[in-house]
Amino acid sequence: MKDNILVIGGTGKTGRRVVTSLRALGHHVRIGSRSQTPAFNWDDPSTYAPVLEGMDKAYVVYSPDLAVPGAKDAIRALVRESRKAKLKKVVLLSGKGEREAEACEKIVADSGLPYTLVRASWFNQNFSESFLLEPVLAGHVALPMPDAAIPFVDADDIAEVVVKALLNDTLDGQTLEVTGPEKITFATVVREIARATDREITYQAISLEEYGRALRNARLPDDYVWLLEYLFREVLGNDENQTVSPDFERLTGKQPTSFREYARRVAQTGVWSPKIVSPV
Ligand SMILES: NC(=O)c1ccc[n+]([C@@H]2O[C@H](COP(=O)([O-])OP(=O)(O)OC[C@H]3O[C@@H](n4cnc5c(N)ncnc54)[C@H](OP(=O)(O)O)[C@@H]3O)[C@@H](O)[C@H]2O)c1
Repeated sequence: MKDNILVIGGTGKTGRRVVTSLRALGHHVRIGSRSQTPAFNWDDPSTYAPVLEGMDKAYVVYSPDLAVPGAKDAIRALVRESRKAKLKKVVLLSGKGEREAEACEKIVADSGLPYTLVRASWFNQNFSESFLLEPVLAGHVALPMPDAAIPFVDADDIAEVVVKALLNDTLDGQTLEVTGPEKITFATVVREIARATDREITYQAISLEEYGRALRNARLPDDYVWLLEYLFREVLGNDENQTVSPDFERLTGKQPTSFREYARRVAQTGVWSPKIVSPV
């Protein structure tokens, strides 16, 4: 049976991949985001009901992060509207090791709706589709937490698990943790990208304070700086968060994508090749 599935955040890193897979399987997908019609905006609860109308299931990606103030109210309101819309399933993307996100997970788990929680570790794609692309292009990556060993996960793997969760009710009520196959440091990440691109890229270990100062000097908004500092300190600062999970292999029978494989694939697309602007 083909479902009507709402993908909130369907233009983002995991959402876009989930949309592509569901459409390839013949499901009817509606993207929920500010740039769609009807527009969906987390900051405006009056936009929730129109995108839920006629939907059977939803994949929920909260932006910018379930840890920010306001996330709980938004998730509570979305759950309320989802019950009214009689959704048959909600899959929530959460962050592995984010204590603040657990309150939002609980709202979904206590909603009375069938649900699956997907907790992901830090994404590989932060280096190619997000805030860490720019330093890679500049050839100099200065980041705190040099000792943190992180099981970076590929957004393709997260999407594969999300699609399974949306389509299999045997996964109802479960919390799935998706990570990569191994724990690596930022120094290794940068070495792998340099190797894959055949470029010279350096890693510089800095303190969290220096990182925060650099972000503020770049005139990034205070709430964005707060969030990045929180994610580095709380998520990467606690080694207990950084365990490799067996869930991807258990569900798919495959090994998760390694960072080396991701780097090889992305390098071929040219995303990491600095653009050379020729003088006029
Ligand atoms: N990045 C990581 O390493 C990581 C790790 C674990 C968990 N997560 C979780 O992943 C989630 C998304 O993070 P991300 O950085 O990966 O997202 P992303 O790829 O940047 O995608 C954001 C998506 O949300 C939409 N969006 C942004 N602001 C919105 C708003 N106010 N209302 C409605 N839609 C909005 C965007 O589309 P429009 O611009 O069209 O609105 C886009 O589709 C967060 O909940 C985070 O906790 C991320």
